[in-house]
Amino acid sequence: MKTPVTVTVTGAAGNIAYSLLFRIAAGEMLGADQPVILKLLEITPCLDKLKGVVMELEDCAFPLVKEIVATDDPAVAFKNADWCMLVGSVPRKAGMERKDLLSINGKVFVGQGKAIAENAAPGCRVFVVGNPCNTNCLIALHNATGMDKKNFFAMTMLDEYRAKAQLAAKAGVAVSDVTNMTIWGNHSATQYPDFTNAKICGKPVTEVISDTEWLTTDFIKTVQQRGAAIIQARGLSSAASAANAALMTVKNLVTPTAEGDWYSVASFTDGTKYGLPAGIICSQPTRTNADGTYSIVEGLPIDEFSRAKIDASCKELLEERAEVLG
Ligand code: NAD
Ligand code: LMR
Repeated sequence: MKTPVTVTVTGAAGNIAYSLLFRIAAGEMLGADQPVILKLLEITPCLDKLKGVVMELEDCAFPLVKEIVATDDPAVAFKNADWCMLVGSVPRKAGMERKDLLSINGKVFVGQGKAIAENAAPGCRVFVVGNPCNTNCLIALHNATGMDKKNFFAMTMLDEYRAKAQLAAKAGVAVSDVTNMTIWGNHSATQYPDFTNAKICGKPVTEVISDTEWLTTDFIKTVQQRGAAIIQARGLSSAASAANAALMTVKNLVTPTAEGDWYSVASFTDGTKYGLPAGIICSQPTRTNADGTYSIVEGLPIDEFSRAKIDASCKELLEERAEVLG
């Protein structure tokens, strides 16, 4: 029997968590033989609702779940955490951009960053879903004194899947035929889904899809605006697909990546790769190595079109950083 891994999920009574928790508990994230301890954080007014979620988790009788802790105290929730999945925060409404949430949600990540640094297990990894996730992650990182900056991530996997689904539909292939999809930059309307380095059935996308006009306009815009389109249609922001992407990000981070492929996640930039500014949480092509560490895929060609898109998204991340520093 493996030693249990402690997974802390914030916003545990919310919409995303309602899908995410049950899949973690079923072993879909860390493996079918990996026991877990679930620590669930909510704000005090939502503790009753959280009680209901805990009852449902218990009623699933998941063999991998060794303990469930439900609390409104970050120090308790992050105690000995190996993974902190920071979902808890307010979602945007129709007509808002994600960065409009910075003044509401940003402060949550100050306290949580500190509480993680003080309580979590050594080598704990922090993964931010709550929007605007890149800059919220940067806030947590800055407040998590003593922690390795390489252990902080924000979610762009949902954007990657959206891009893959759009390309697969256009090309008339299975989604699994689309590989090497990078989302560059911010999880926002400036993100750049890089079709120039993506592949369909092992061939460059541009060899399979000849409609360059679509690739450079509608495709990018659809991916950039997909979150808003879902809010418009559902009246609520994406939840099941967000939970799926969150689960798959952690799975990708703990599983060696298939030869030749990569995945998208936002991580801390050191200023040495692809001309990305140092000190932001920026989405980049990432691979998990055999020893469980991760590396940024280097040497991808960046043409003039891509350069302008990547720079625009990084500029927005720098603006968000300046706003929170201020
Ligand atoms: P929700 O409103 O259904 O749930 C959020 C939960 O967080 C609520 O139960 C709330 O009480 C809780 N919460 C708020 N502040 C908290 C705190 N300080 N500590 C602990 N819990 C706290 O929202 P949701 O649909 O689950 O979405 C959560 C966040 O995820 C939103 O910010 C949303 O925009 C974001 N999101 C990100 C992506 C992405 O791709 N990065 C995708 C979808 C949603
Ligand atoms: C998404 O991309 O679906 C989420 O970030 C929610 C949103 O506000 O768009």
